[in-house]
Amino acid sequence: MQPLLLLFLSPVVVLSSSAWTARGEDEAVAVASPEVNPLYYNCSLSGGRYGQNTTYEDNLKALAARLVGVARVSNFASHTVGSAPDAAYGIALCRGDYTGDECANGLRKAFENAVENRLFCDRFRDATIYYDQYMLRFSGEDFRANLTNAPAWVAWNMNNVTGAGGAAKFGGRVMELINKTADYAAWHSSLQRGYC
Ligand SMILES: *[C@@H]1O[C@H](CO)[C@@H](O)[C@H](O)[C@H]1NC(C)=O
Ligand SMILES: *[C@@H]1O[C@H](CO)[C@@H](O)[C@H](O)[C@H]1NC(C)=O
Ligand SMILES: *[C@@H]1O[C@H](CO)[C@@H](O)[C@H](O)[C@H]1NC(C)=O
Ligand SMILES: *[C@@H]1O[C@H](CO)[C@@H](O)[C@H](O)[C@H]1NC(C)=O
Ligand SMILES: *[C@@H]1O[C@H](CO)[C@@H](O)[C@H](O)[C@H]1NC(C)=O
Repeated sequence: MQPLLLLFLSPVVVLSSSAWTARGEDEAVAVASPEVNPLYYNCSLSGGRYGQNTTYEDNLKALAARLVGVARVSNFASHTVGSAPDAAYGIALCRGDYTGDECANGLRKAFENAVENRLFCDRFRDATIYYDQYMLRFSGEDFRANLTNAPAWVAWNMNNVTGAGGAAKFGGRVMELINKTADYAAWHSSLQRGYC
């Protein structure tokens, strides 16, 4: 299925015909785009679809508002609204340099486009949507209980490293970032287990 892809084609440059894919039952589409359009989204058919004016739809809208509110403060939010079988589970994350109102307004628009304007993942209960500046997922199943990177997607930064020694300098910064991230993850995990 290739839902409403044309909506995204007109104002943007498509990476290549192989840049978007549809595998199995899921719809997965990647487009190169400016800020307002998703870079990639996965509408997972396994979660099924929800009807108009259903409890799930209400819960999803409340979830979106809650995630936006929390992400404005902390750049990341994880929340549940309602109870099974109508519960809506979700997470939202903004890029580190995209904070406060920018983060909140971007996420709000992203949820609006998915849930109210139904520009993509039309009434899918389980949708993952990646923008450059933020990403979100919601589902009727609590995927957060065993959070993984799936459905993952990798994007290239199209800028080149330049200047004398630029590549080595950049590589050093990458290593530094990875080291700090690993240290932080270990620290955070030991905190959770009560070792600190
Ligand atoms: C879409 O997301 C679902 C749920 O995480 C996953 O099972 C599926 O493999 C993903 N599809 C693609 C094409 O990545
Ligand atoms: C959903 O609610 C709206 C607003 O009350 C109404 O116009 C619409 O007909 C309803 N749709 C269904 C399928 O019940
Ligand atoms: C998470 O995964 C672990 C290991 O696969 C499993 O034992 C556990 O039951 C899962 N938890 C939930 C809530 O699905
Ligand atoms: C980056 O370098 C490649 C290879 O030299 C070149 O083709 C490309 O146009 C460069 N990109 C930018 C944004 O300058
Ligand atoms: C990253 O950590 C490794 C292992 O401790 C160390 O060898 C390396 O020098 C570190 N690199 C940077 C840039 O901090």
